[in-house]
Amino acid sequence: MKAVTGFILEKLNARLAVNALRSLKTETSLIDFCSNDYLGFSRSPELKSLFELQLEKYPEYKLGSTGSRLLSGNDKFTEDLEADIAKFHNCEASLLFNSGYDANMGIFSSLPQRDDTIICDEYIHASIIDGARLSHAARFVFKHNDMDSLEQKLKAAKGRIFIGIESVYSMDGGEAPLEEICTLAEKYNGAVIVDEAHAIGIFGDHGRGIVDELNLSSRVFARIVTFGKALGVHGAAILGSEDLRSYLINYARSFIYTTAPSFLSHLAIKTSYDYLKSKNHQQDLHQIIQNFRSKLHTVSSLTASRSGIQILLIPGNTQAREIASELQQTGFDVRAILSPTVSTGSERLRICLHNHNSFEEVEALCNSLKFHCEA
Ligand SMILES: Cc1ncc(COP(=O)(O)O)c(C=O)c1O
Repeated sequence: MKAVTGFILEKLNARLAVNALRSLKTETSLIDFCSNDYLGFSRSPELKSLFELQLEKYPEYKLGSTGSRLLSGNDKFTEDLEADIAKFHNCEASLLFNSGYDANMGIFSSLPQRDDTIICDEYIHASIIDGARLSHAARFVFKHNDMDSLEQKLKAAKGRIFIGIESVYSMDGGEAPLEEICTLAEKYNGAVIVDEAHAIGIFGDHGRGIVDELNLSSRVFARIVTFGKALGVHGAAILGSEDLRSYLINYARSFIYTTAPSFLSHLAIKTSYDYLKSKNHQQDLHQIIQNFRSKLHTVSSLTASRSGIQILLIPGNTQAREIASELQQTGFDVRAILSPTVSTGSERLRICLHNHNSFEEVEALCNSLKFHCEA
């Protein structure tokens, strides 16, 4: 036992030494420039009352799903929801997962086999890395958005090839060159799997995502959409063919060996999608993003991004943390992303913009950022 407690302390102290010890914070009264609630859905009184109205239609609902989808946890409501999601995203089928983490774990751990190859962008989300690790396939990483690097890896790949990318990179805000990646994938017979966690709700017609915006649905093998970000609720789905859906039901362990999400969770997803379809929620957000970027056009550390994630590079954990803490003291909930989450030297402030940020709040934040970051 002593060996274990000693190990824990040693690991925590190692984080402390590089100023990267993580800790949980409870909700603050700071202005939200940090959450993934890009469209403000999680706090929307309109969406909440729509949800409550819907709920009244199901007085007999169960609080919990009572089992895995393969045992007692499946019902028609869930399957209808999956069909609706597939229709909205212009694909054959969808399969719900408890979270985006579970969805990525499910597909990347179950589909690639021992003699296959998974190739991922170096900025790929931890859930894809973890899923790929659980598979027995060979794993390659290509330089971020670098098509020469991807092609090198494609040339070296064996077996079936799976390419893992995000349409909008979560720690970067930038986009993958999806068309070029599809073209290369076709040349080497690879299957592209696109995580659209930060694109859903924001890009494409009514927020259908970037794959849809670029008309690439038929060239992409599968998409992961998550509901805990712009949709303001929780959960995720994998979009693809009927066969892929059946495969995942049979082989994806993060789908099979877990209790299905509750009816309340599924009703929240359905209501959120209905709300997404009901009007153009994207316009205001894109206006706020444009406004933010034009105010900071003189700040060279601001990286390119048309998404809700805006990045200012502040190399060094200590410096990035200090600036974030000064911004927090001025009332803005801005977080620093530190190494090892990003590579050493590319530490950053990650600013999330939302529909619920007022013009004045964005203006005040930009003034503070200019003060701290303008070289
Ligand atoms: C790109 C990406 N994929 C997947 C996930 C995981 O999604 P969830 O929060 O639903 O588990 C996240 C969230 O952190 C993400 O940013």
